[in-house]
Amino acid sequence: MAAVQPARKAATVSEGGPRHGAGPRQWFERVWRSIFPRPLQARTDRERAALTRFTFLLHLRPVMVPARTLPWTHTFGLGGSSLVLITLLAATGILNQLVYQPVPGVAYDSVVSIQDQVPFGALVRGVHWWSANLLVVVLLLHVARVFLTGGYHGARQFNWVIGCGLLAAVLANNFTGYLLPWDQLAYWAVTISTAMLAYLPLVGDTLQQVARGGPEIGTQTLVSFYTIHTTIVPVALIVLMGFHFWRVRRAGGVVEPPAAPGEAEGDEAKRLFLPDLLLREVVQALVIVAVVVVLAALFGAPLDERANPGMSTNPAKAPWYFMGFQELLIHLHPTFAVLVFPLLAGIGFLLLPYLTADDEPAGRWFLSPTGRRTATLAAVAALMVTPLLVIADELLSGGPSGLIGGGVLPLALAAGAAAGSFVLARRRYGASVNEAVQAVVILVAVAFAVLTLIGVWFRGEGMALVWPWQR
Ligand code: HEM
Repeated sequence: MAAVQPARKAATVSEGGPRHGAGPRQWFERVWRSIFPRPLQARTDRERAALTRFTFLLHLRPVMVPARTLPWTHTFGLGGSSLVLITLLAATGILNQLVYQPVPGVAYDSVVSIQDQVPFGALVRGVHWWSANLLVVVLLLHVARVFLTGGYHGARQFNWVIGCGLLAAVLANNFTGYLLPWDQLAYWAVTISTAMLAYLPLVGDTLQQVARGGPEIGTQTLVSFYTIHTTIVPVALIVLMGFHFWRVRRAGGVVEPPAAPGEAEGDEAKRLFLPDLLLREVVQALVIVAVVVVLAALFGAPLDERANPGMSTNPAKAPWYFMGFQELLIHLHPTFAVLVFPLLAGIGFLLLPYLTADDEPAGRWFLSPTGRRTATLAAVAALMVTPLLVIADELLSGGPSGLIGGGVLPLALAAGAAAGSFVLARRRYGASVNEAVQAVVILVAVAFAVLTLIGVWFRGEGMALVWPWQR
């Protein structure tokens, strides 16, 4: 306690500040106190609470947090990790912008000069690339965490919808950034992805022209992608993230697991944010930065040959996060692959909080032991059946899929599988509504993940099925 006294005293002296004529030490102290009126070292709980409340960055967080949400395995800090990666992206993106030029004839050369001539340019570009790709993975894991702990009910319902906006913004930024290096990989990935839009009935051609800024990928596409990537989406992200964090705070923090019998509840079950949570968050942020920098230093970012609109790559693949759709396109009628299935899945995902029961217990991973069991069964079923269906279609289907064989039938099959798993989970395993919905969502999500993996690793020349080492 005695050690705290001098600091307190210094804080009060600063109110008037040392007079003119005082020595340089007092002068620096005066400047320091004008920035940090309170001591930065907090030794008691009271001082820690005050530091959280009165420090600009810390006051954005609550002074106390529910103790049961503190174990790392409750959230794995995935939302915070997404924020760290977005910050890295912003910092390295601004540096890239100093050299990059969004003009087809020059874009590739400007990227080459970032790589070869700018000091630490290759590292900065590598950090940007790795952060962007890791962000998609970490974000999907964050969504999985929120979903599997039932963190999207009650006061958190609309935050799920805001989250969907964030996911769309992150994917849009990844996709628009993909084109900027103007190499073969970028040019043909964007050509393939935008070509998928043309399959949409009635509006397909128009949509494709809007996405490309004309009939072909060219100057207008690059300029629009660059503007979306560096201005429109970043602004949307900042606004949506502010809204998202505020909503988490308004909901009283992350979803809390139910109290075990005899466990304290309410205010008694709270802990100080500083140091319990803050320390861990800072350590996790530093680890993420270190991992990204090491990956960037070891592997850099890919850069293929300069884009050649006259010679397609073989295979021409969409970015990995869209490969599930490209794989669907191989098996289904295009209207179903790029419209019916994605639209139904998208609407279901967006409205998930409003399609599930709002009054069932939440806060535990997989909701309950029954939820864990039905979720595992659904995941195993999807892992086994999806590759078998892909191989069967590859062996049996003689040509392009028709509207019935490649659309209506698969849709009926998928709807039957979803309804069947729901009923099975409810009747056979006694699952609640939310546990049964969880099983259905896992079935669909794992099937899509398997399609993505097949598309990325098991498709070679001409999109034929091959082993990954034969690609
Ligand atoms: C840029 C993207 C995102 C960032 C930076 C972000 C960040 C965060 C953070 C920091 C939290 C609180 C704690 C945690 O889980 O780590 C959180 C909670 C939440 N996030 Fe996100 N998030 C993002 C995207 C999403 C997406 C795509 C969804 C869903 C579609 C989503 C839905 C939610 C919900 C519902 C909560 C409250 C969960 C609970 O209370 O347990 N977020 N987010």
